[in-house]
Amino acid sequence: MSLSRRFVLSCLGALALTACTGSETPSTPADAPAANTILIGEYGSLTGSEATFGQSTHNGLMLAIEQINAAGGLNGKQIEVKTYDDQGKTQEAGTAVTRLVTDDKVVAIIGEVASSLSLAGGRVAQQYGVPMISPSSTNPTVTQVGDMIFRVCFVDSFQGFVVAKFAREDLKAQKVAVLYDQGQAYSTGLKDDFVREFTAAGGTLAGEPQAYTGGDIDFSAQLTTIRDLQPDAIFLPGYYTDVANIALQGKKLGIKAPLLGGDGWDSSELAKIAGDSIEGAYYANHYSHEEQRPAVQNFVKSYQDKYKETPDGLAALGYDAGMLLFDAMKRSPSLGGKDLAAAIAGTKDFVGVTGTISIDAERNATKPAVIVQMRGGKPGYQSTVMPRGATPVEMAPLVPAPAPAEMAPLTPAPEMAPLVPAPG
Ligand code: PHE
Repeated sequence: MSLSRRFVLSCLGALALTACTGSETPSTPADAPAANTILIGEYGSLTGSEATFGQSTHNGLMLAIEQINAAGGLNGKQIEVKTYDDQGKTQEAGTAVTRLVTDDKVVAIIGEVASSLSLAGGRVAQQYGVPMISPSSTNPTVTQVGDMIFRVCFVDSFQGFVVAKFAREDLKAQKVAVLYDQGQAYSTGLKDDFVREFTAAGGTLAGEPQAYTGGDIDFSAQLTTIRDLQPDAIFLPGYYTDVANIALQGKKLGIKAPLLGGDGWDSSELAKIAGDSIEGAYYANHYSHEEQRPAVQNFVKSYQDKYKETPDGLAALGYDAGMLLFDAMKRSPSLGGKDLAAAIAGTKDFVGVTGTISIDAERNATKPAVIVQMRGGKPGYQSTVMPRGATPVEMAPLVPAPAPAEMAPLTPAPEMAPLVPAPG
């Protein structure tokens, strides 16, 4: 077998989907990085009901690697990545990180998207002292696992505030129903954060929050209860496959209240599954491809050139996580876990696609969020919400939000006011 063929086969390892970024140099087997390469690891859901999370993140990360390598790599070394598919399963996430550390000997890890999986993988990375950056896990407990675990996204205490503020101030909602995934740390946490912020802002809950478990097929019991409570809006802090099914079934049951969500909705699959039952719904996200900031427009162009599709928030965060890691590697005296973690922790005012990133003492990032609305099956920019206490300067989009589209029945128009009961 030729060396290059062996290389290709080793890249197609059964469990691993190995991204062979060094494939122009086939004398370097993927499992034994040469001295002139730096190997990082990635784990994510490349298959399963959250498959687009892992795929988009991977695409964003690969674009970052391509760009850094084209610019000469890091101190003359090219970056390579080994990627494992955890299929969106907790157990697989832990196994993947163990393999990245013990077999592949990566110097740092990018992953996961889903908070429950970052918690599982993060415990392993922490135990071995290998720095891990989650691009997009927003549950606060993820980085509390230990001093090796970082994130480049905002946290759910902020995201809950963003959605609650939008529901109260923009939708003028008084009474909101909640339907959440009891099996995901992300969903249960964001539910609590939303409820706290929404009630603090003077709103009330339509009944107790209703629960489901990811992968459920029939939501009619919860949705019938919610419909009969006549909420002004329904908050769905879940992942896109379940949310799409809930939207479909809710429409069949005659529910007309606006649907609201968080970043877990962000997938091209959402509208593919839900069709027009998700039209007009709003969710919080990490960026919008319609923002006119140069960092956004440069990224969107490169991504579209490479992949022939519009990058979602996961792709932007995967790119930012990679670029931030490379920036820290440049500043780090060595690629040992302690040095590298200290360099990541020292990140200040890093200009990312999803905003300017400074890593704080809790290893989190404080950044603005955007609200997007599903219009014509795609997320359209609606507004930007700044972190509490921040001044709304730099992040303000240059292009004003389009006027609420007519086909969006969920847009709060004056004639919707009667749906909101008088306070008190
Ligand atoms: N924030 C989600 C979580 O923590 C993951 C996610 C991020 C999903 C961004 C979509 C977009 O589980």
